[in-house]
Amino acid sequence: MAEQPNTTLTPPSNLQTRPAGATEYSWCRAVPGGTGITVLALLLSKSPNISVLQNALNKLLNSNPILKSQLHYSSTTNSYSYTIPSNSHLQIQPFDLSSTAQILRTLNNNNNLINETDFHLILEHEMNQNSWSETSSNFISNVFFASTYQLNESSSVLTLRIHTSVCDRAAALAVLRKLLELTMMSEEENEGGGTKLELLKKMEVGLGIEEYIPAGKANKPFWARGIDMVGYGLNSLRFSNLKFMDSESTRGSQVVKLELNKEDTDRVLDGCKTRGIKLCGLLAAAGLIAAHSSKGLNENQWEKYAIVTLINCRSILDPVLSPDFPGFYHSAILNTHDVKGGDDLWELAKRCYTSFINAKNNNKHFSDMGDLNFLMCKAIDNPGLTPSSSLRTSLISVFEDPVIDTTSILHQEIGLEDFIGCASVHGVGPSIAIFDTIRDGQLDCACVYPFPLHTREQMQELIGEMKRILVD
Ligand SMILES: *[C@@H]1O[C@H](CO)[C@@H](O)[C@H](O)[C@H]1NC(C)=O
Ligand SMILES: *[C@@H]1O[C@H](CO)[C@@H](O)[C@H](O)[C@H]1NC(C)=O
Ligand SMILES: *[C@@H]1O[C@H](CO)[C@@H](O)[C@H](O)[C@H]1NC(C)=O
Ligand SMILES: *[C@@H]1O[C@H](CO)[C@@H](O)[C@H](O)[C@H]1NC(C)=O
Repeated sequence: MAEQPNTTLTPPSNLQTRPAGATEYSWCRAVPGGTGITVLALLLSKSPNISVLQNALNKLLNSNPILKSQLHYSSTTNSYSYTIPSNSHLQIQPFDLSSTAQILRTLNNNNNLINETDFHLILEHEMNQNSWSETSSNFISNVFFASTYQLNESSSVLTLRIHTSVCDRAAALAVLRKLLELTMMSEEENEGGGTKLELLKKMEVGLGIEEYIPAGKANKPFWARGIDMVGYGLNSLRFSNLKFMDSESTRGSQVVKLELNKEDTDRVLDGCKTRGIKLCGLLAAAGLIAAHSSKGLNENQWEKYAIVTLINCRSILDPVLSPDFPGFYHSAILNTHDVKGGDDLWELAKRCYTSFINAKNNNKHFSDMGDLNFLMCKAIDNPGLTPSSSLRTSLISVFEDPVIDTTSILHQEIGLEDFIGCASVHGVGPSIAIFDTIRDGQLDCACVYPFPLHTREQMQELIGEMKRILVD
């Protein structure tokens, strides 16, 4: 791991088109079913100037070419590729007051007057707009969409909706930061041109993550691969799950928030620090305990649950990729845990984190990447391999590291009141995908779940229980 990192990338020989790599291919397969629609939603206290915004977005896409690409599916070869035009022609789709009101009315009716804010409902609405659901031969679609929704005279919501194969959470947040800085600067009439050039530095078109695995890290002995595949193949699609409320109806994604105040966040983070574990282990443990207790089982009734932990690999690839490098450069580790009820939170958290970090130290995030991609595609092709055709492959997914957000000064200037970034999971995936941010010292998680496989009431209860477990 101490090798000198290679800091320049070898560009693909043909910049116009490049085929999807193996992990990207899995996402291209997952998105049509509803998993991997990444949405950033921003609540603004003033109406954005659409032409300024559109200009800024086009500049951003031109400097991050993979984001202006069109995804192309060829049925003859059953393969996906990205075609990159020389110029971005992004068109923001604006929804004015009355069309936004119409959308909100429909959402409220479908939701039985639930208590969510308009901002929250728009976020969910966007996660359920699937521009990639068609898989006809020669299907082609942009990977990046932007919309604005006018909530009332003063407030509006800006949404960016992106295909996850070209944009993981880290890339999406980098785009957001640059967009905020760019729009703010254009309001200040081109002052600070130097910074602007830096912001718009043209990023190369990267390759799939597989191409950057450090030499030797993806190899595993032949016998180990055999054993793991048997393990993954026979068991991995059939772990314990939350109760399924409706496994028949068409699914969408919904979100429940998990927020802690500053005091509780500090306590939780200090607890992790003194025990030498990361927050991901604690969130996973709280989820496991809440899930087990939600099923009303007897104590000592063991259940085996799967947890997926996502690792941002940019800093450990060869060459090392910059933190804002666009694309999908996360890898996953799948661990299973036996939970019996009455478990001690910190003890279970330690167990979760230790098994994760041991697997990572053994390079499982590189060596098992192909196996997990294979498993995901296998479930997509044969939903019946999963319990009740639920397509659930784990209970929870967490990120190894939370997003740390401390840009509140910038936020004030452009009237950014709130933002949420997360991705849909109603195709293949976990029952709860946790997207955690520590915003000005407060833990703020968007927990995404498939609906109506799970219901809002069920999830509000479960997430409420997780919070209670964390705070106590
Ligand atoms: C960087 O990458 C190039 C091309 O893949 C390779 O030839 C070279 O040896 C690498 N350098 C280092 C220091 O790893
Ligand atoms: C948007 O910004 C442009 C450029 O600054 C300006 O010319 C235009 O009048 C603005 N439009 C609105 C509706 O404010
Ligand atoms: C809706 O929100 C209000 C204010 O936060 C709260 O008092 C009320 O109990 C909530 N109703 C439901 C059904 O959750
Ligand atoms: C506009 O909507 C926002 C977000 O829902 C809300 O906070 C604000 O109070 C509303 N403003 C008016 C004038 O209704």
